[in-house]
Amino acid sequence: MDKGVLITVEGTDGAGKTTLIEYLKIWLINKKFDVIATREPGGTQLGEVLRKILLGDHDHDDQHDANTRISARISDQAELMLMFTARMQHLQEVILPAMEAGRCVLCDRFTDATYAYQGGGRGISERRIQQLEDWVQQGLQPDLTLMLDVPVEVGLQRTKKRGRTRPGGDRFEQQQIDFKEAVRQVYLQRAEKYPQRIKLIDATRCVAEVQNDLIQSVGAFLKARCGACK
Ligand code: TMP
Repeated sequence: MDKGVLITVEGTDGAGKTTLIEYLKIWLINKKFDVIATREPGGTQLGEVLRKILLGDHDHDDQHDANTRISARISDQAELMLMFTARMQHLQEVILPAMEAGRCVLCDRFTDATYAYQGGGRGISERRIQQLEDWVQQGLQPDLTLMLDVPVEVGLQRTKKRGRTRPGGDRFEQQQIDFKEAVRQVYLQRAEKYPQRIKLIDATRCVAEVQNDLIQSVGAFLKARCGACK
């Protein structure tokens, strides 16, 4: 590949995103792609600090109580800005240099998540999010987005079974069903709006079927892009 590619993976809670990303990463490495797997919010030292604050996922150290209070008081608008702060740093420090070097960047969530969570979930206008997107990304969009979809009820059942390090999950997982429904609806609307870029994958099926779909989508994309996959 002359220029790198950015593949993002999105999903509603309980869609099995983490395991599927790991599977895809290994598949790409076996195909001899130079893969860098990263995530949002996160992916840099600054981003990982912001992630802890945003998700309310703090270490049990001396600062624990103070940090937990900070997380509990983030306003919706500040949350949006912090997502884009993490993203700006991530782009400048990790994603853009990797793409310049011709690498394949596999990113666990990106700006579709902002439209879904801060837009759908928190009710911030699409126009406001787009303003920040335009400034931070300067026109950059993922080359391919794999959107793993499960109905909210199914996702909830799965996350309950999986068990959690913190009771009730992170700041987003703790939200009410309405919030989760709104997040899912925005994801589905975006998949419909950008069918070339976003591949919607029904993640209610068994793991093998979902893995197969993922690989079909990524394989077809890479073949069109660089003729590298069968
Ligand atoms: P996850 O990595 O386990 O999916 O957790 C990340 C959480 O952050 C998830 O609940 C979605 C949320 N999030 C946003 O609200 N907005 C964003 O822009 C991103 C990237 C993630």
